[in-house]
Amino acid sequence: MTAELACFEERCRARFPITEVIYNCPRCGGLLEAVYSAPETSPAAWKTRWRERRMSNDPMDQSGVWRYRELIPFLSGDSRVVSLREGSTPLLEAPRAARYGGLDRLVFKHQGYNPTGSFKDNGMTCGVAQALRLGRRRVACVSTGNTSASMAAYASAAGLQAVIFLPHGNIAHGKLVQALEYGARTLQVDANFDQILALVRRIAEPLGIYLVNSINPFRIEGQKTIMVEMMDQRDWREPDWVVLPGGNLGNTSAFGKALREMLQLGLIRRLPRLAVIQAEGSAPFYELFHSPDRSRLPRVEHPQTLATAIRIGDPVSWPKALHEVTASNGVVERVSEQEIADAKAVIGQCGIGCEPASAATLAGIHKLVAAGTIRADADVVAVLTGNVLKDPDYIYRYHSGELKAPDGSQIMANFGNHSLLVPCEESQIRILLNN
Ligand code: F0G
Repeated sequence: MTAELACFEERCRARFPITEVIYNCPRCGGLLEAVYSAPETSPAAWKTRWRERRMSNDPMDQSGVWRYRELIPFLSGDSRVVSLREGSTPLLEAPRAARYGGLDRLVFKHQGYNPTGSFKDNGMTCGVAQALRLGRRRVACVSTGNTSASMAAYASAAGLQAVIFLPHGNIAHGKLVQALEYGARTLQVDANFDQILALVRRIAEPLGIYLVNSINPFRIEGQKTIMVEMMDQRDWREPDWVVLPGGNLGNTSAFGKALREMLQLGLIRRLPRLAVIQAEGSAPFYELFHSPDRSRLPRVEHPQTLATAIRIGDPVSWPKALHEVTASNGVVERVSEQEIADAKAVIGQCGIGCEPASAATLAGIHKLVAAGTIRADADVVAVLTGNVLKDPDYIYRYHSGELKAPDGSQIMANFGNHSLLVPCEESQIRILLNN
């Protein structure tokens, strides 16, 4: 088995050693991806092996990423891997959310069950493994919150120095405190995500920093396993649709690559369609997808949304994401702040919960079913990307009727749930609860 880095651009496809520290193609500037030679053993036999590993106590088998190591073979035999038992996230049936979305049935793949509470852990165990393999001592990322929380944890567990760049004032507290607790050097910058990422890409090399943003192709390899694990959990029955939120579009790229590779290897027989959902105030990919000219991203200078995780106006992975959505015959939708907030409360009422960006999925489903794009009887898996406790301020404001959209307009608490102040008196409480 050989592994290389390849330029993603069709007209270039230049190849580079897997150990080269590059984030873009040195020849044409295109995005990079990991590519592998054809496997020596039959992929069909892997399914049994992966199932058996679920019974094993080996941390590499318990990890929902490294359990599928045959599909991400970029490391060498003696590489060190740090696992915090990422992945192995559940598929959760959600009848109430299905009804709200207009579907007969809906299943959530909940990445919020990860060790740091988001899907970033699937990718980070790989990004940090590559940093270790390269002998790098310092890793960094620019983040809307979850990448930084994840990187801080994995870097500390691996004994690496972690440097985090955050858009000042635009990150949920649950995420910021994780970075601090896990011991990362945390720099809040007075600029938005896109501006800071452009800066950090310039200064990474002179500062000896290994970047683990989603332009890092090894992060993408790890996130592929979200789709592999989902297929394994479904006994390899392909869903009709996979719905996910879109921000920097790393996950869209990873899911598409995973599904295409599984199809190529004969692990699945057809591609599910990808539906990527963006917040209205941060929807450059939606604009691109619906534009007659798909060669240039109409980036959003000042992206806005309370779903801060996806507050991104210039997503770096858009060429890969566009390829994947097109290859899967997928769609891109956008949803309003009100739609996200209500969908989120409905997911909460299922006993599941998630952070705002994740709820864009259900809001998008609601719209796409109403438009007839997704059929009511379709087999749909929506990916909830982050844990409910990531952004408690948002939740409290919504339920107490105090949530305001970035433009200052009031968000209605259509599914609000007030807490009541009651006296410590039996009679009053009886009256209250009997009515
Ligand atoms: N959902 C959550 C909870 C996220 O944290 C992110 C991205 C996304 C969705 C969008 O995923 O970027 O792959 O399209 N968060 C990044 C971060 C940008 O810095 O934590 P994407």
